[in-house]
Amino acid sequence: MKMDVLLGLQWGDEGKGKVVDVLAPQYDVVARFQGGPNAGHTLEFDGIKHVLHQIPSGIFRSKLVNIIGNGVVLDPVVLRKEIQGLGKFNINFNENLYISKKATIIIPTHKLLDAAYEKSKGDKKIGSTLKGIGPTYQDKIGRVALRVGDILAEDFGAKYNALVEKHKTILSFYDFPLDELPELEKVFFESIEFFKTLNLIDSEYQVNEHLSKGQKVLAEGAQGSLLDIDFGSYPFVTSSSTMTAGACTGLGVAPARIGEVYGIFKAYCTRVGSGPFPTELFDQDGEDMRKEGNEFGSTTGRPRRCGWIDLPALKYSIMINGVTQLFMMKADVLNIFDNIKVCTHYQLPDGSFVDRLSYELNDQEAKPVYKTIKGWNQSLAHVTTYDDFPSELRNYVSLLEDELGVPIKMVSVGPDRKQTILR
Ligand code: GDP
Ligand code: IMO
Ligand code: MG
Repeated sequence: MKMDVLLGLQWGDEGKGKVVDVLAPQYDVVARFQGGPNAGHTLEFDGIKHVLHQIPSGIFRSKLVNIIGNGVVLDPVVLRKEIQGLGKFNINFNENLYISKKATIIIPTHKLLDAAYEKSKGDKKIGSTLKGIGPTYQDKIGRVALRVGDILAEDFGAKYNALVEKHKTILSFYDFPLDELPELEKVFFESIEFFKTLNLIDSEYQVNEHLSKGQKVLAEGAQGSLLDIDFGSYPFVTSSSTMTAGACTGLGVAPARIGEVYGIFKAYCTRVGSGPFPTELFDQDGEDMRKEGNEFGSTTGRPRRCGWIDLPALKYSIMINGVTQLFMMKADVLNIFDNIKVCTHYQLPDGSFVDRLSYELNDQEAKPVYKTIKGWNQSLAHVTTYDDFPSELRNYVSLLEDELGVPIKMVSVGPDRKQTILR
């Protein structure tokens, strides 16, 4: 059996959590492969709305195994809170949640470092979620990080202290106050004791064994391709590999074992945090999109920047991920518009037109070139099958499919599990 991968093609928050939840009954296992508590994946069903940060979005389906892979950076404090927050759902964490011993741990000083680095950048700040993601991945690559398996060893305290001493040296260079640290450490060590009671495993064996037994595994991406450490709008990116290749390294699954790649995108674009966003709207349309789409961060509550759909960016994400099926989210948010714009190219300051995300594009003023199509301008509340779609929405879907060259297999018309139209 091959492992399918589900990931965001834009700047995150495309609706990945909802789609994982919808697809979950078809799978035996859902596994996170990168990112950490910077993610916020929202699920809505039976009148319940829940945001998951580190726990895979298959957790509400009782028969599923959920795995947090080695590529994830994990905050034990957030994990404990998340598990406690799920208390009312009667989830059997002993049977349904497994965590890689090779995943990296976020410690309190990683969060202080995140804040210190952001502060030092002034108006060049990335707009990080300040969850400690960047500094933790830095330590992982620098070969000094703590891993989940380390918490079981007797010398964990000593290893922790050695790392904190390094961090304190850096923090003193930035003149960053440490007043908060004792309280943060107290909660951290309480959470570590709780952490020890969870299933800590070598997840690469478990995932491959599930596949070998013919079971179906879905890899759940966090963030989006345009926030990828290599291919995103660097330096305004996150610190992990958010793409299909990241699912291989973040779970220990060989490239030849990748099956379907589901690319999730919104019917428009949003971005939270700093960095280039060619189709960003600063007018009433942008305001209306934010209001209609309730575009406020699931993790930080920050207003999301909004704009029209960007085809060059989507084509790029499809290319680097090998997307085989597209899922379009939040079509209902465009109900309010008489006309809908689709960015097909960018115009550069020298007057030339491009449709590639080149290295140079990042630092240039790229003006979007739009094709305008008629909107459907009506509610989609009644829609339960593709045949119910207004003709203008069908045209929009066909236009995108023609441009992107990949079939759109699902259109989402509302946040609830049920508001999902399969094609
Ligand atoms: P993720 O990080 O990719 O899982 O996405 P988020 O959960 O951060 O953000 C997506 C938001 O859109 C959440 O509030 C979802 O409940 C909501 N959502 C998902 N699909 C739809 C949809 O089709 N229509 C509307 N209106 N909201 C949706
Ligand atoms: P999900 O999984 C949207 C953004 C931050 C910031 C940049 C770097 O819910 O789609 P970091 O905390 O990683 O140092 O922040 O990346 N960012 C996200 N934006 N959705 C996310 O996750 C994000 N995770 C990080 O806003 O611009
Ligand atoms: Mg999110």
